[in-house]
Amino acid sequence: MTSMKRFPSDFVWGAATSAYQIEGAAREDGRGESIWDRFASEPGRISDGSDASVACDHYHRFEEDLDVLQWLGVRAYRFSIAWPRVLPTGRGAVNERGLDFYDRLVDRLLARGIEPFVTLNHWDLPQALHDEGGWPARDTVGAFVAYAEVVMRRLGDRVRRVCTHNEPWCISTLGFGKGEHAPGERSWPRALAAAHHLLLSHGLAVEAIRAVAPAARVGIVLNLVPTEPASPSEADQEAARAFDGSFNRWFLDPLYGRGYPLDVVFDHVRAGHLPHAELPFVHEGDLRAIATRTDYLGVNYYSRAVLRSTTVPEDDNAPVTVRAADDRTDMGWEVAPGGLLAVLRRVHADYAPPRIYITENGAAYGTAPDASGRVRDLPRQRYLWTHFAAAHAAIEDGIPLAGYFLWSLLDNFEWGEGYSKRFGLVWVDYATQARVAKDSAHLCRHIIRENALTELEHDLARVQP
Ligand code: FCB
Repeated sequence: MTSMKRFPSDFVWGAATSAYQIEGAAREDGRGESIWDRFASEPGRISDGSDASVACDHYHRFEEDLDVLQWLGVRAYRFSIAWPRVLPTGRGAVNERGLDFYDRLVDRLLARGIEPFVTLNHWDLPQALHDEGGWPARDTVGAFVAYAEVVMRRLGDRVRRVCTHNEPWCISTLGFGKGEHAPGERSWPRALAAAHHLLLSHGLAVEAIRAVAPAARVGIVLNLVPTEPASPSEADQEAARAFDGSFNRWFLDPLYGRGYPLDVVFDHVRAGHLPHAELPFVHEGDLRAIATRTDYLGVNYYSRAVLRSTTVPEDDNAPVTVRAADDRTDMGWEVAPGGLLAVLRRVHADYAPPRIYITENGAAYGTAPDASGRVRDLPRQRYLWTHFAAAHAAIEDGIPLAGYFLWSLLDNFEWGEGYSKRFGLVWVDYATQARVAKDSAHLCRHIIRENALTELEHDLARVQP
């Protein structure tokens, strides 16, 4: 007798992508330059020297990709709108051909019975706006709100779920603090200002979106990393507090009405990132705007962090772990499904969003097609299955987890890693643009259809294609 973990009948299974990572057609139909086009063109920025000017050529092949979504059986598709396609210089005249692409995409999704789940900002800020100051400048807030209105005025009659920003931590910390992402700067004061303007523009856009598209459910997507000390020692606990503070609470606290966490403010003052504990970029009324009620929180989960005081994580997105170090994905991220349950429990207990979606979860493994063309990506199947089980446990706990989006539908341009890391359920041969559903795609299709898990070995045996 196999045990059965059944998901609620209205559970939203989905897959996710983002515009810059898959679309290509970087110079077509009036699209403007984004900060990622510029960043990728600078020598040494992308590990394999590539850029996303072609990527998965999704702009031309989207019907084929929607066929795959339909075959998978997902109820929803999370994709992002490229701001520089819609407003090539970030504000002003609308490029109708750019907006037409998303209009068609939405219609074709709905015709297949797949709900569009739109991300407005998945990192590809128009370069012209950056040249005017970008996220560290307060003016960008108004530009984002106006862009959100343009998009939702056009799509809001059909798009019911929308999120403002994807992972403000990555945009601010990796883009302006660590220089690993576009625009590649290293200035903590600018990173903190960027984070604030992202949050503020989110809050103001929530209201603006509701005004033009009253049926829309609006949220934001955070990458959250559950954090533990490596030992009960005071020093390790202090390391964990600081990491959790800058990674998670810096965003969650203001979004849920608590303002910026004071302990982290003092960390920044001590480190010389801020002149004093009064944040220079926070104006009267900002915190109220940031805390505008949302309909859901999107959580992107990949791994956990175990902090040791002697360990300075070189890459906060790949926290140095001190346990289970042998089980890692190609990104070097520890496989830690328990961390997904931990982070959902924490968000529910401490912030209580009315709904939560796992807006991204998945793993990079490079398993290539074998001689017969089949991609036997067993590590990814194990990764996904164990994370599905964690999601199920969260629902059993009474956490309002409403859906789960697989990252990603396709292998794609993995930012600073270029094409060297493959997160897709579908293998992409970049030379021919051929797509091959990996074994993990077959497993997901089976689980989505059953809307249940049995046991890993049992589910795997059911789907050998
Ligand atoms: C997240 C990003 C997404 C993808 C995954 C692996 O941080 O939102 O675009 O790169 O990581």
